[in-house]
Amino acid sequence: MQTITVNTGRPYDVLIGRGLLVKAGELTARVHKPCTVAIVSDETVAGLYMAGVAQSFQNAGFRTVEYVFPAGEQSKNMAQLADLLDFLAQNELGRSDLIAALGGGVTGDLTGFAAASFQRGIGCVQLPTTLLAAVDSSVGGKTAVNLPSGKNLAGAFWQPELVLCDCDTFATLPEEELSAGGAECVKYAMLGDGELLEIITKQGLNAKWEDIVAPCVEYKARVVAEDEKEHGVRKLLNLGHTVGHAAERLSGYSIRHGEGVAMGMMVLTLAAEKRGVCARGVTARLEAALKALKLPTVCPYAPEDIAKASLGDKKRQGDSITLVLPRAVGDCFWQTIKTSEMLDWVRLGVEKGLS
Ligand code: NAD
Ligand code: GLY
Repeated sequence: MQTITVNTGRPYDVLIGRGLLVKAGELTARVHKPCTVAIVSDETVAGLYMAGVAQSFQNAGFRTVEYVFPAGEQSKNMAQLADLLDFLAQNELGRSDLIAALGGGVTGDLTGFAAASFQRGIGCVQLPTTLLAAVDSSVGGKTAVNLPSGKNLAGAFWQPELVLCDCDTFATLPEEELSAGGAECVKYAMLGDGELLEIITKQGLNAKWEDIVAPCVEYKARVVAEDEKEHGVRKLLNLGHTVGHAAERLSGYSIRHGEGVAMGMMVLTLAAEKRGVCARGVTARLEAALKALKLPTVCPYAPEDIAKASLGDKKRQGDSITLVLPRAVGDCFWQTIKTSEMLDWVRLGVEKGLS
């Protein structure tokens, strides 16, 4: 088991290993006194892991209550949040109690936001069960729900007290979900670790995941400790996300978040390479890694539509928008451009060929 400490205002540990969910109770008891724990999970994950996790909390002296909601991005909304908050009130949780997010990024984001807002904030434990949640959404305290106008538009920064990344849970993940999580691993490799990109390209979906999750979480923990509320360097973690969120929206949310991120990284890396701000060959290395994970490398929407949808992103401020671009593998930067320039960037990234 590896332990990575996230040095935010109130530091917390991320434990990465195998067999951690059945020890969730005893591991949580090290950081929080026995209390009531509301375990929140979607229907799929609850069917697989709820009983074992609840038993583990009970064995460690916690009282448990369970909240289960329909799986999928469509549950990450205000109505589901209101229902969850009311469930916490009905079950008489108080400020010294805990809420545990057992599941993927949807569960983590919804539960984290409920923890941030219930009685102005109660403790939260993240128990990620997707690769995406393990490497990204469970760490760093970003929580949110979607609004009809766009993704993650209502949310809060709310750091968990503990994160348990149990890589055994990936064994039950459908391959497409593993691929989608792999996109965020590629993101971390592009941001800070060229060697990791080679490992991902060689091992693909047969990777030894704890060896991939740990460097991704280490990178994220460093960035979050430096810039908890995304005023500066944390913007880098949005690599692939501006165009990625646009692709998700244009697909009517029928593609996975990770698939959108893969497309988003490809579009802006190719555009950056064509503009000469990114070294030659980076797009090819990125493409090889994404292909090894069976991820899309082409964004199938019209440049005009992508550019327009991108401008609805949170990274827009008035008539400018911040793009995250690679200079080289392991070296990225952000650049603010005029919104009127966005279409040119997208066109360059969507048109095939480097010349
Ligand atoms: P998800 O939570 O919907 O999980 C994907 C699917 O896998 C679901 O159907 C779920 O039921 C199923 N599943 C989960 N774990 C399983 C397991 N172990 N075995 C079998 N099935 C399992 O989606 P996700 O891809 O984990 O997360 C995507 C969400 O995360 C998006 O809403 C995105 O915006 C958000 N996100 C947030 C952050 C952040 O920093 N907060 C970062 C990245 C992404
Ligand atoms: N997923 C991007 C961030 O946590 O900042």
